This record gives sequence, structure tokens and C-alpha cells, in this order.
Amino acid sequence: SAQHRFTIAAVPADGVGTEVVDATRTALAELARRGPQPFEITWREFDWGSHYYAEHGRMMPEDGLDRLREMDAIFFGAVGWPTVPDHVSLWGLRLAICQGFDQWANIRPVRFLPGVRSPLRGTQGAQGRALDWVVIRENSEGEYAGLGGRNLSGRGPGHEVAVQSALFTETGCERIARYAFDLARTRERPKVTGVTKSNAQQYGMVLWDEVFDRVAEEYPDVEAERVLVDAMAARFVLQPESLSVVVASNLHADILSDLGSALAGSLGVAASANLNPERRHPSMFEPVHGSAPDIAGQGVADPIGAFGSAALMLEHLGLPAAAAALEAAIAETTGAGVLTPDLGGNATTDEVTKALVDRL
Ligand code: NAI
Ligand code: MG
Repeated sequence: SAQHRFTIAAVPADGVGTEVVDATRTALAELARRGPQPFEITWREFDWGSHYYAEHGRMMPEDGLDRLREMDAIFFGAVGWPTVPDHVSLWGLRLAICQGFDQWANIRPVRFLPGVRSPLRGTQGAQGRALDWVVIRENSEGEYAGLGGRNLSGRGPGHEVAVQSALFTETGCERIARYAFDLARTRERPKVTGVTKSNAQQYGMVLWDEVFDRVAEEYPDVEAERVLVDAMAARFVLQPESLSVVVASNLHADILSDLGSALAGSLGVAASANLNPERRHPSMFEPVHGSAPDIAGQGVADPIGAFGSAALMLEHLGLPAAAAALEAAIAETTGAGVLTPDLGGNATTDEVTKALVDRL
């Protein structure tokens, strides 16, 4: 009998989201049964997303958050489809959940898997330079606060004016900086790099820098540095071995983490967690990639990013041994060359899932 029982919401949503969530549920069912740390998941499935929108005119029901509130965690696929404007689908579902449940810390590990070729020279998964860093994204405010308006000139077409503001609060900056420094203490290399564009954006980002420096002083055992975001983009490519924990605003970390996952081989392998660290609300786990309409329905979506997100979820649920077993099976699967087309292989989603299950 399982010691640990959880109720998890599955929100596969759109495109390959449904394919990788299915694959993850298959993998977790086997892991629960055969893994080193028994557990039991009761899934509650929610068919929200762009299909739901076509029928109901919204991405999820009005009481959607209430239905998720009692869950132990949320496992999310990807949202977005050509039938719905992207800003409507994103705000109507994913951002609604992240902001509604104050999931202010978005964790995006950049991991180089064995058998996966990186476009970085001299990097060959486990055989190359030891590269392993994590991007911490402020997930509740910043550039995605949704502040602004359109047609402010009032003079109509051809003269429209739009303002999109970024919101930075001292509380928001401080909690994400502290999260980054706490995480750095658990890593082989205790180092945090704070990223902003405070030379050009003199209000919000200077506040961020000041708070970052103040928090850094409380962690004399953790190396701290600050880098501007444009220089950081170059550093990701040229000196990735200098990185351990990178903390940045909502927009900057969004972009940097996609760059990181591309460097690690594919957007398809990137995992993420949207955490409410106080655990007052459920946290949400999802692959970094989107709904990939170009390959959806073909059965070739890479499920590795979703598997990695499931490992982050198991860790969050207090199942570190199960998480480690899943991580190990992921590395063995890619190491054995069972790869989807985005990684240069010809395996299907099902074949990768089966190969992983065999290694659990
Ligand atoms: P995308 O991540 O869906 O696709 C970008 C490229 O990566 C495509 O070539 C795609 O085939 C490939 N790719 C993505 N996931 C893959 C996987 N698991 N296996 C193999 N290849 C994969 O980003 P795109 O095209 O910019 O956006 C498509 C839709 O997804 C849009 O509606 C967008 O708004 C939405 N989106 C949703 C996200 C979320 O739900 N968190 C994140 C990013 C985009
Ligand atoms: Mg992104």
C-alpha cells in the first residue's frame, strides 16, 4: 500500500500538451508501482484550453481556480492554438493559474543530458564540459504584470499609442532573490548571478539590483554577481561554465531559459516548476515548450521536458527518491539514443516513454 497519496490536476490543454501529459501519466503510473518510493496519484482531468474556448468563449470556467485549489499539484501541458489569439489563451489559462495561486518562483533547470547533442562546441552531454545551471524566473510581476492600455492618444487608427508597464515591488524582488540564494546553498557551486537591464531601465531594475545586493550580504557563503541581460545572453553561449543559479525578471528569464534549453539540445527537453513556495496554494509543473502546432498530432513530441517537470513535482511532493529514479531513467533513455526527431532521432513519443518505463 502506498504511503503517499496525492490528488493531481492534469491540464493538458492544447497541441502536444495532451501528448506529453499522457506520456507522463503512463511513466508516473509505472514509477509509482515499481519505483524506490511508493506513491499513489489520483488524477483529476480538466479539458480546458483552446477547444474549451471554442465552445464556451473562455479558456477555463469562471470557477476554474476554485476547482484546482484543493489539489496537491497541477500538471500542465501547453496552451495556445491558432484559433485563439496567443495573449488571450496565455492570460486566460496559464497566467491566470500562475498569478491566481501566487506561483511567484518559476524554476527552469538547464540540464545537458547524455546522448543529446548541444549546439555549443565542446559540449557533448555527460561526455563534455559539466554544464548544469538553473534559471529562476520572477513569476508574479515584472513585465508580465499586465499593466497598460491601448489607444491612449484617442485619435484612432494610424495614431494609436500603447503603454506596457513593468511592475517591481520590493517584496517581489526580495522573495525571488532570497529564493535564488537559498537554492544556491544546496548546489555544488554556491553562486547566484542577478540579471537586469538597470543601465537602461532606471526605476524597477535599479530597485531589483539594490534589493539583490542587500540580500546577497546576508549570504556571505554564496558568491554573488550582477550582469546585464544582453551580456548574459552572450555569457550563456560563451562561458556557460561560469553559471550556477541565474535569477531574473519575468521577461528576461523567459527568454534566457529558452536560450538555455536550446543550448541543452531542444526546447523539448526543458522542464519547469511554477512554485508557491509558502505552499498556501498548489504549485504547477509543466514543460517549458508550447503546444507546437507544427508537429501536434503526429505522435513525435519529445516527452522529456514533461518527464523532467514530473521529477520536479515529485520532489515538491516530498518524494526525492522517486524523483531521482525518474531523473536517472531520463538520462539512461537519452544516453541509449532513444530520441525524438527534435533531438535528431526517429523515436516516437510512445517509444521514448516505453524506453523510459523499461529503465525505471
Ligand atoms: P513551441 O514551443 O510550441 O514550438 C517551438 C518549436 O519547438 C517548434 O518548432 C516545435 O515543433 C518545437 N517543439 C516544442 N515542443 C516540442 C516537443 N515537446 N517536442 C519536439 N519539438 C517541440 O513555441 P511556439 O511555436 O512559439 O508557440 C506555439 C503555441 O504555444 C503558441 O500558441 C504559444 O502561445 C504557445 N506557447 C505556450 C507555452 C505554454 O503553455 N507554457 C509556452 C510557449 C508557447
Ligand atoms: Mg517561454
